[in-house]
Amino acid sequence: MPAHTAPSPLTARASGPLAGTAEVPGDKSVSHRALILGALAVGTTRISGLLEGQDVLDTAAAMRAFGAGVERTGPGAWEVAGVGVGGFAEPQDVIDCGNSGTGVRLIMGAMATTPITATFTGDASLRRRPMGRVTEPLALFGARAWGRAGGRLPMTVAGAAEPVPVRYALPVASAQVKSAVLLAGLNAPGETVVIEPEATRDHTERMLAGFGATLRVEEGPGGRAIVLSGQPELRPQRVAVPRDPSSAAFPVAAALMVPGSAVRVPGVSRNPTRDGFYVTLLEMGADLVFENPREEGGEPVADLVARHTGGLRGVEVPPGRAASMIDEYPVLAALAAFAEGPTAMRGIRELRVKESDRIDAMARGLEACGVRLQEGEDSLTVHGAGPGGVAGGAAVAVRLDHRIAMAFLCLGLAARAAVTVDDAGPIATSFPGFLPLMRGLGAAIGP
Ligand code: S3P
Repeated sequence: MPAHTAPSPLTARASGPLAGTAEVPGDKSVSHRALILGALAVGTTRISGLLEGQDVLDTAAAMRAFGAGVERTGPGAWEVAGVGVGGFAEPQDVIDCGNSGTGVRLIMGAMATTPITATFTGDASLRRRPMGRVTEPLALFGARAWGRAGGRLPMTVAGAAEPVPVRYALPVASAQVKSAVLLAGLNAPGETVVIEPEATRDHTERMLAGFGATLRVEEGPGGRAIVLSGQPELRPQRVAVPRDPSSAAFPVAAALMVPGSAVRVPGVSRNPTRDGFYVTLLEMGADLVFENPREEGGEPVADLVARHTGGLRGVEVPPGRAASMIDEYPVLAALAAFAEGPTAMRGIRELRVKESDRIDAMARGLEACGVRLQEGEDSLTVHGAGPGGVAGGAAVAVRLDHRIAMAFLCLGLAARAAVTVDDAGPIATSFPGFLPLMRGLGAAIGP
């Protein structure tokens, strides 16, 4: 992220029906992984549909700094000339991962078993987020890390010269931590095992297998064990990045808020480790139809049509669903304000260590918009007042968090009075075309 750009406020006003096709960008998680695994393969990986958001661009720059050749050959089309597992060069300067927790944590893992030293930093949001959750398992491989108090960036990681394989049970349900350990395990001899108590997004496992690594998954009483054989030669791939279901969530939620809307989102990933939001919407009574199911880039995808029919019901979102919709809670909280009755979201403590403390950011913003709610340490209950029941008329602090900005801009389209977000800049980290896309559907969003 450009660090010192002036904040750019944006206002969403009550809109007529949203209609049309929302071509959301490539999946952020898959995009980071395609660049990193491409950099660790021997030969040239060709990526299409890469998300060209700032988070991913920062990972592309980092892969260059570690010695890979990374070139943009067209819109969303990128080539990565990999250096092979264990082939990373020592970067000559600090690696700035901007706003991206995924970027920094995965890259730390990818370099942790190579005998080089790298220093990582990021924007004010990323510098507040905990890195101990990755440096602790990376230390088991023999890597060392020095950061600020609480395991905060800037942080220097010295990769292990003689890495040993690791068996690690995740203490939090985190795909970033799982992926950091697996990427580190690539350059350790023998088998590295990660055990996750509940399933988190599995893009790293899918893509590692696609690049030719040997890994197997064993379901056991302690959860799901992923067993990776170290020191493979990764073969370059063609990666077609599916569209991001987390970005699709915004035009879909907006369509469900604004009466008369019907929006089509083609080619959305239906990976079951990512679909909790859509499961929840169906439970709320939303009119969603998934058409033309197929496989693209190793991921199940479908065309999604969302229609406003009104009459959404508040629901209980169980803790066990949190991992599969972790990034969608902000926009679900906004949508829940238009449902009939309470929507209780439980087991969501992890939201407190995202780009912002998302429980607090949503609670304060919704209260300012006249929504009743209860906030717990790891829960949020939003009392929906039905269609037309949200006052709006507030200015909301985005706190360097793209998803807080987009959630409140969606809410403003159906609230009685306009909603302003204090800084729309962070939206470019994950969804650079959000504003023209939403305007193209008929959303009244502007200065
Ligand atoms: C991601 C994992 C999730 C998610 C993030 C992307 C990934 O974070 O919130 O946006 O690509 O692995 P955690 O692993 O910290 O839950």
